[in-house]
Amino acid sequence: MKAAVLKIDAEKRLSRINPEIYGHFSEHLGRCIYNGIFVGEDSAVPNKNGVRSDVIEALKNIRIPVLRWPGGCFADEYHWKDGIGEKSQRKKMVNTNWGHVVEDNSFGTHEFMDLCEELGCEPYVAGNLGSGTVQELAEWVEYMTFDGVSPMAELRRKNGREKPWKLKYLGIGNESWGCGGNMRPEYYADLYRQYQSFCKDHSGNRLFKVACGPNADDYSWTDKLLENVKSWHTKAISLHYYTVPTGDWSHKGSATEFSDEEYYSTISKTLYMRELLDKHIEIMDKHDADNSIGLIVDEWGCWYDVEEGTAPGFLYQQNAMRDAIVAAVNLNLFNEYSRRVIMANIAQTVNVLQAVILTEGEKMVLTPTYHVFDLFKEHQGSTLVSSQAENFDTGSGESHAPALSQSVSVDGEGNLFITVSNASLSDSVKLSCDTGEFKAARAEGRIVTAADPRTYNSFDEPERVKPQPLEVALGEGSAEIILPPCSVAAVKLFK
Ligand code: AHR
Repeated sequence: MKAAVLKIDAEKRLSRINPEIYGHFSEHLGRCIYNGIFVGEDSAVPNKNGVRSDVIEALKNIRIPVLRWPGGCFADEYHWKDGIGEKSQRKKMVNTNWGHVVEDNSFGTHEFMDLCEELGCEPYVAGNLGSGTVQELAEWVEYMTFDGVSPMAELRRKNGREKPWKLKYLGIGNESWGCGGNMRPEYYADLYRQYQSFCKDHSGNRLFKVACGPNADDYSWTDKLLENVKSWHTKAISLHYYTVPTGDWSHKGSATEFSDEEYYSTISKTLYMRELLDKHIEIMDKHDADNSIGLIVDEWGCWYDVEEGTAPGFLYQQNAMRDAIVAAVNLNLFNEYSRRVIMANIAQTVNVLQAVILTEGEKMVLTPTYHVFDLFKEHQGSTLVSSQAENFDTGSGESHAPALSQSVSVDGEGNLFITVSNASLSDSVKLSCDTGEFKAARAEGRIVTAADPRTYNSFDEPERVKPQPLEVALGEGSAEIILPPCSVAAVKLFK
């Protein structure tokens, strides 16, 4: 067993961990919205206004703070007026990005905004800049948020919703460098400035506008965008980065069958997020020294080959203990960079990519990734404090990564919350948390672990991976835990 010290300075308060860092992304893609979230009012699956009751309960349990919708690539082909009014009259369209299936628009603005109200989370609407018009987007904002007499407010009332909803986050264009229009940053910046000018704050609603930021390591996009888009145009820019274990998009690797070397390569490719954050934030600091533009990682997660026998365009993949480590590493990083990172959205909530929930008919499975969101939820709204872990290298063959990842926060009552993961497949770690002057009165710990990183929750065995209690040995200004190989732990130290 290895021994390591985690030094915590509870007095060194760094930045607020915005709850939205624990956000989600749901696109009209495969079985994410349809069957995953929305089954329709007449379904045999228990539902509330057509939304699966089990999914609602599961998302409430992890305190989902924000939900991004309707895409993704789908957003730049979405025309919101097709998704309102009497369902049988709604236009049917082709989902050209995801399998060319028929989109019947039965889940639209009302269904989404009502769902967010039910979940108690912020809606994050991704507006169509690629194939829509300025007027269309301006009218969508008016439809959702205007309380007085106006054509769109009247239309909303006619469709059964008297009062406007509250809409905070508005994205304008998704991946405008790719599926959203293949634009150059200068051209996009001009369009963004134009579109955002007509998205108004109505009836006390305050929009938090988000411009399309870079793809992974496209630093030039960030630089050119911020040369042209300023803090009076935007509150944030986005960043998309997916972990592809092999690094080869034509053969990404399986979600459940992989070698130890591929496992470590997945962890090391996930840790590339640190370099991306460092470099993009350096550029942001150059253009925006007073930190008024946030960075939103509104698509992140593992992207594998689809499960055998499933539609290629549906991006359905299983989710194993390896994904739990990936989630922990990313979430610890987002906490660490919370000075700039104000939101992150895992891709995607249900049945697509690194999903937190999988469904099959009436059955639902909570994935290892879900349990990490559950473990980490105490960080939401707390303040990051300084922490440093002694680390060691772990790996197999050509692939290596540091074993430990951690973040520590303090809540409003002065309690400390520690999350840590051990990526090593061979070494347990005795972790001594040195809390200095902070002397805990009592502690609570939970752990998610599996001896084999390939372990996943299936519909037949849905609880192979789930949180277990973790023993915490308290001393004077210290707390000791044992991290088995391939584990994620959370410890709360009460003042
Ligand atoms: O999440 C799947 C797709 O990945 C999204 O639609 C797109 O934005 C990204 O390329």
